[in-house]
Amino acid sequence: MKNNLAIFGGVPSYSTPFEERKIIGKNETDGALKVLNSQLLSGFIGGPGKFFDGGHEIKNMEKKWNEEFGSTFSISTNSWTTGLQTIIQSLNFDPGDEVIVPPYTMSACASTIILNGCIPVFADIHPRRLTLDPQSIEACITSRTRAIMVVHLLGCPAEMDKICEIANKNDLIVIEDGAQSPGAMFKGKNVCNIGDIGGFSFNFHKHLHCGEGGLITTNNPKLAEKCRLIRNHGENLADDLEEGMLNNIFGSNFRLTELQAAIVSPQIENIKNIVTIRNKNVDFLKERLSGIPGIEFQNIESESLHSHYMMPIFVDEDILEIKRNVFLRAINAELPIPSTWDTNPLAEGYVKPLYINKLYQRKIGQGRNNFPFNQTKREYPNGLCPVTENLYQKELLLTPLIHEFISRKSLEAFANAFEKVLENIDSLKSLKVDKDILDPIEVINNNKSIK
Ligand SMILES: Cc1ncc(COP(=O)(O)O)c(C=O)c1O
Repeated sequence: MKNNLAIFGGVPSYSTPFEERKIIGKNETDGALKVLNSQLLSGFIGGPGKFFDGGHEIKNMEKKWNEEFGSTFSISTNSWTTGLQTIIQSLNFDPGDEVIVPPYTMSACASTIILNGCIPVFADIHPRRLTLDPQSIEACITSRTRAIMVVHLLGCPAEMDKICEIANKNDLIVIEDGAQSPGAMFKGKNVCNIGDIGGFSFNFHKHLHCGEGGLITTNNPKLAEKCRLIRNHGENLADDLEEGMLNNIFGSNFRLTELQAAIVSPQIENIKNIVTIRNKNVDFLKERLSGIPGIEFQNIESESLHSHYMMPIFVDEDILEIKRNVFLRAINAELPIPSTWDTNPLAEGYVKPLYINKLYQRKIGQGRNNFPFNQTKREYPNGLCPVTENLYQKELLLTPLIHEFISRKSLEAFANAFEKVLENIDSLKSLKVDKDILDPIEVINNNKSIK
């Protein structure tokens, strides 16, 4: 049986390339052409006057977002990283103040905290939801804690009821990172419209995109105003501002262009459709692969809605009796070589837990005295967040093959490859692998194959 698997030289179970995401269509190109022909590629002026908040396309897109998602204020930015930076600056925290954040997220969530002179404190995540674990949040709160940054990872809404209750009890701000979760809902409420302030990313990989971009959402008029000032050199409006608005107002240039706004705008009305298709694709795979010992999927309460940036699959190495990365490589060998990120059958885990990064291990920070780490006694030891570390090292597989362009035939092929590997799993148990193959980062960097 051994040679049956493609990893041992057998015939792969499927070779037709998977469908790529191609979301730029006629509406987007028409919108972009209209802007190009108008010659006005950005409507912003960094000083008092009616162009301080941008041109027609920016205002139109922000309004459309509010209408679709029910937020009161939307402030677009030229990335979600700068959106996060704007939000943290708007909150007037002092150097050394602490913000609780998950370690299993994109690096910008924590680095924007550091950039504002504050300290990221990593709380662990729920082993299936992959979002902040409320109990772990509570254990991280000190007199220096000012905010909780919730990340709706992979489109899964975090447990906002419990998290907001903790925040209220401890007088903390709740920031929602919805980069991966437009269209997701927690118990009937749109994400990034539940806490104090939040927002989304429009980078190339996200549900809706214009290459790069971001959008802050809030129902708090004061925070909205501050974010608008920070986005566009707000210091130039200082003469006209009331005293309370002046704190921390030296702005930057975080402005999205008219062109980008015109490209993302027509996509907004399509989000419900995108989320519906992704949910159907995930349900199909769950059903096809249900009941297999050692394989689990994510399940959330029926009143909430997942928006499925990617689909997580959890493996139990002890039950399967093979390493996660061997399993992954055997499945990928059965399927076409990816041409893009969106056609990659399976990836091992998500990013390295952020605190394992040298930035935290060496407390690099800014300047000669490692600001702001010199403001804290916090350490970032291995083992700090065991659930996250286990997911990263052993448990988590991710597939982007549930996006809205994936055909039923491709989903079938994916499930067939899974089943073929499971049927032949015994042949993988005796497989000798190089030690470094088992390190997910090594596998990504070197793209080594197991022979
Ligand atoms: C959870 C999360 N937060 C923040 C970001 C940063 O967004 P951007 O790339 O738009 O700056 C990303 C991007 O991948 C993300 O996934």
